[in-house]
Amino acid sequence: MKKIAVFVSGGGSNLQALIDNTIAGEIKGKICVVISSNKEAYALQRAQKYGIPAYIFNSKEHASIDDMYCKINDTLAECGVDLVVLAGYMSIIPQHFIEKYCNRIINVHPSLIPSFCGRGFYGDRVHSAVIEYGCKVSGATVHFVDSGVDSGAIIMQKVVDVAYNDTPQTLAAKVLKVEHEILPQCVALFCEDRLRIDGRKVTINPL
Ligand code: GRF
Repeated sequence: MKKIAVFVSGGGSNLQALIDNTIAGEIKGKICVVISSNKEAYALQRAQKYGIPAYIFNSKEHASIDDMYCKINDTLAECGVDLVVLAGYMSIIPQHFIEKYCNRIINVHPSLIPSFCGRGFYGDRVHSAVIEYGCKVSGATVHFVDSGVDSGAIIMQKVVDVAYNDTPQTLAAKVLKVEHEILPQCVALFCEDRLRIDGRKVTINPL
């Protein structure tokens, strides 16, 4: 059974979706550890409720990002982690960690990549930009993490309509809803070894 680490920084609604889908048997894997960049993250309370070990790694409390990730590496190694899922995680990830977990780090982004992504595009900033631009659709993207920002191979996307009267908050809620659908689906496919990567192309092997 694949072992999953979930990296969080905030409310943890995506973590909750992963937990729910694991309990329901949709994800044939085990969330064995939660890593949070923020000691106040409500995601930590969600982990505690389900008895999932959680650790806080705040870059301000380490000599360097590299030093912090060496300690994160040790924590993940103890669990034998196969997959890292970034679920609202707001800290940078160094190259050596990305290389160590090559094609084994999955992120969810609240736009249709390659639009409205990259440096500075997170949270409501994404949805404000979408509305400002006058887009008629937006959505969520789940992708593998590579050395860029929101630039890895796309696994799955799902579209939502942008209504004329949408605010960044109402659009965020619509996008978050589809995040909660496609992130667990992608993690489930990874756990079943059904994702094939060929350069930028990710294909899903049939059952
Ligand atoms: C969400 O807005 C999501 O788009 C992004 O992180 C934010 C918080 O998610 N990935 P969560 O509720 O902490 O999972």
